[in-house]
Amino acid sequence: MRPTVYITRRIPDEIIAKIVEQCDIRMWDETDIPVPRNVLEKEISSVEGLYCLLTETIDREILAKASRLKVISNMAVGYNNIDIKAAKEKGITVTNTPGVLTETTADLTFALLMATARRLIESSDCLRGGNWKTWSPMQLTGQDIYGATLGIIGMGRIGASLAKRAKGFDMNMLYYNRSQKPELEKELNMKYTDLDTLLRGSDFVCIMTPYTPQTRNLIGKREFSLMKKSSILINTARGGIVNENDLFQALRDGEIWAAGLDVFEQEPVCLDNPLLTLPNVVTLPHIGSASIKTRMKMAELAADNLLLAIKNQTPKHVVV
Ligand code: DGY
Repeated sequence: MRPTVYITRRIPDEIIAKIVEQCDIRMWDETDIPVPRNVLEKEISSVEGLYCLLTETIDREILAKASRLKVISNMAVGYNNIDIKAAKEKGITVTNTPGVLTETTADLTFALLMATARRLIESSDCLRGGNWKTWSPMQLTGQDIYGATLGIIGMGRIGASLAKRAKGFDMNMLYYNRSQKPELEKELNMKYTDLDTLLRGSDFVCIMTPYTPQTRNLIGKREFSLMKKSSILINTARGGIVNENDLFQALRDGEIWAAGLDVFEQEPVCLDNPLLTLPNVVTLPHIGSASIKTRMKMAELAADNLLLAIKNQTPKHVVV
């Protein structure tokens, strides 16, 4: 009998066709609306495979309904949306899509860093709003990028790719990571430090670490108080790593200079989130990996992982 797979969002036709060659599918056929929890609860109870996005919370409660499920294939590198422990206990394989999004996400992180440092959004708004009266010596002045010190929190694949870009801008680099990376240090001329030293010494602090119970609210009031008043925080990892209330206060009170955020504690971000009222915050709707080529590669890799696990073969990227 052919296995059945539930796909939680409309994905590209060629990827659907690939899955349909080997499985029967059901799909939440929407592009912009996540599958409602009650629908997912019902669907998960009768399928062997789940192809899902980071917008789906796959917790212990929902997994209790998954009596036939063999694999959860997450179309993302991050998997904080899935209760890994509960999946493991039930013998369900969980897969993700690392590697294929590394360069695209590093590109976006550097773009956000530059946009924040040089106030690109504010500058564009100034022009379009009719406020460009004349060239003026200190109007819309920002922070230099070349020669500045970049602190990278989390030296995985994306952190290393970001460092390569920063090297081209003659940036000095500090990094904080669970383990030291001597090879990379030599190649990119980076210095391994503890978190506080990184925060004190950096002009830019980029968060590139996975979201885990250990990294939840890793950056809050105490950490902002250590940072330079001229420093910029960039987060393209997960919103929950930063305490948003503390970030708001630090930005409002001039404890740090600006922030560039692609991710938020709650997504989509509520329009009454106070961070959206600040001119020194550049905000994006979680588009780190959003290039056409990369999203296609992620969708395909998630399908490959799913199909291998369904056939009891080892997927390309197994989380548990
Ligand atoms: C991921 O893959 O975890 C990103 O946040 C989205 O590409």
